[in-house]
Amino acid sequence: MQNQLPINQILQGNSLELLHTIPDSSIDLIFADPPYFMRVEGSLQRPEGSNFSGCDDVWDNAFVDNADYVNFSRKWLEECQRILKPNGSIWVIGSMQCIYSIGGVMQELGFWFINDVIWHKSNPTPNFHGTRLNNSHETLIWATKSKKSKYTFNYKTAKELNCEIIGFENGERKQLGSVWKLPVCSGKERLKDINGDKLHNTQKPESLLYRIIAISSKIGDTVLDPFGGTMTTAAAAKILGRNYIMLEQNSTYIQYGKQRLDSLTFEDSPIAKAEFDKKPLKVSLTEMLTAGFLHVGEQLYLKNTTFRAQLTDEGKLEFEGQIYDIHTLAARLKHAKAERLNGFVYWEANRGDSRILLHDIREEYRTSLEI
Ligand SMILES: C[S@@+](CC[C@H](N)C(=O)[O-])C[C@H]1O[C@@H](n2cnc3c(N)ncnc32)[C@H](O)[C@@H]1O
Repeated sequence: MQNQLPINQILQGNSLELLHTIPDSSIDLIFADPPYFMRVEGSLQRPEGSNFSGCDDVWDNAFVDNADYVNFSRKWLEECQRILKPNGSIWVIGSMQCIYSIGGVMQELGFWFINDVIWHKSNPTPNFHGTRLNNSHETLIWATKSKKSKYTFNYKTAKELNCEIIGFENGERKQLGSVWKLPVCSGKERLKDINGDKLHNTQKPESLLYRIIAISSKIGDTVLDPFGGTMTTAAAAKILGRNYIMLEQNSTYIQYGKQRLDSLTFEDSPIAKAEFDKKPLKVSLTEMLTAGFLHVGEQLYLKNTTFRAQLTDEGKLEFEGQIYDIHTLAARLKHAKAERLNGFVYWEANRGDSRILLHDIREEYRTSLEI
């Protein structure tokens, strides 16, 4: 199946047709930034009279009415559901004009919502004439193919990306919430056309896609974007070592998008590899005995007490003529309510002039396995 995928390619055409060519259950992650159907009429002007180029593109106003837009949304979302792997997930971003229609269709189709995320723009376009609140956010829906999906969520990686919290520099980590304050795409990041004007009205910031891809996919996964635009999704995917498949109808966007991708490479990092989320290798006391990190017959000492017990060749503890595992004996001697405590943080062994926790000896053993 994987061989038939147009991995790391940009396909030009109507995504409703292109999506048909993607095999069933083949994609790990989808990011979709569809037309907003902003229903813009006339031109938007700054107070001093100059024109502001918002989203008034032909591709955005290609719908007769909301029913037409809902119909279009249903078509591409049905295809996305078909091509997602059972444990894959999808992110869809939209403004107030479209996200409610899209969310309704997604729920009808059986997508299972994980979160809705508010992208709070730290530098939004002003409401030039002060006629309503400044529109300073967009909404993202994160959903799985079905309720049963065991989707990827790199929880600890998300904590590492939550770097604006007080104390982050000093090692504090907090759960990433569902309001993300990030700037809109501007400056050097914004692609310019041959005249130096902005190429695309709705280019998304790379930081947004970086975060999404880093927390909801694994290195080597395939990320598909049905509305590629300036190829922001592919850019973040490439930097993070994921494969991409981009669909886009506009040849100019594709041309500039390709140049953008050519200038990027994989940036090997703990975030890309989701190293923070790697489960530590499970190791047993018998393994540690065999490897010489523990010794049969040595005494282990219950931390901050006078209790001690002897280590057997089966990785158990002999105490007053009875054999226990390290967790049960720790709980008994500590008069804990639980039947077992984590023995690795209660038992110590003599090493040189000091006592060292089994937990630390286990870390030394794990490190020795990595070398
Ligand atoms: C909101 S923009 C996506 C912007 C993109 N996320 C980025 O960062 O540059 C939507 C894109 O979808 C493309 N598009 C709209 N309808 C399409 C269709 N039916 N098939 C393929 N592309 C389409 C438009 O040309 C536009 O570039």
